[in-house]
Amino acid sequence: MNIVSLTGSPRENGTTARIARGFTETCRNNGHEVKLYHLNDMNYRGCQGCNRCKVKSPVCVLKDDLTPVLDNIKSCDIAVFASPVYYGDTTGQFKCFIDRTWSFVKPNFTSKLTPGKKALFITAQGFGEEMHRDVTERYTGFLKLYGFEIETIRVTDCSADPDMDVDRFIDKASEIAFSWTGKN
Ligand SMILES: Cc1cc2nc3c(=O)[nH]c(=O)nc-3n(C[C@H](O)[C@H](O)[C@H](O)COP(=O)(O)O)c2cc1C
Repeated sequence: MNIVSLTGSPRENGTTARIARGFTETCRNNGHEVKLYHLNDMNYRGCQGCNRCKVKSPVCVLKDDLTPVLDNIKSCDIAVFASPVYYGDTTGQFKCFIDRTWSFVKPNFTSKLTPGKKALFITAQGFGEEMHRDVTERYTGFLKLYGFEIETIRVTDCSADPDMDVDRFIDKASEIAFSWTGKN
């Protein structure tokens, strides 16, 4: 299986990145190919709103570090999308990536991607679980529009509890990887 993982936190060993790694390490241990993209290290622009992906080109016409990422998502079986909540949304790094997935949408708002893909959407936030539910709802809505079947992991209260047990979320990610890739 082809697996792609995008981490949108600048913190390479932060909560969301560690949980994403829990997923991808299980996939790799099972012999699957995994491509990792740490968005903070990459050079790319947000969508320019040119709409050439609707009228002239099947893909985004910008050529930068996101070009292979968008290509690999098109051909992947499973994708991991991970971002902390920053100011009530995903990080800027992640949001710029999402804007570029406009190139996945046909003019009639259906998906250009082949159906049957799965995605894990991971968030972490400082505040309690009553806050920022909309972030998961909104972004999983976009991913569903592209045809992904979605699982979510949502970590809350990170600031309030410095001793939080992140391992149980890493284990959950690993379990989802196992159930999707068939082996442990
Ligand atoms: C710039 C910035 C903005 C943040 N905004 C919010 C916020 O709006 N709500 C919230 O609950 N936590 C907020 N946080 C806390 C992060 O979501 C939290 O520390 C998260 O666990 C970081 O994830 P990471 O460890 O994967 O980097 C913010 C943190 C930063 C640095």
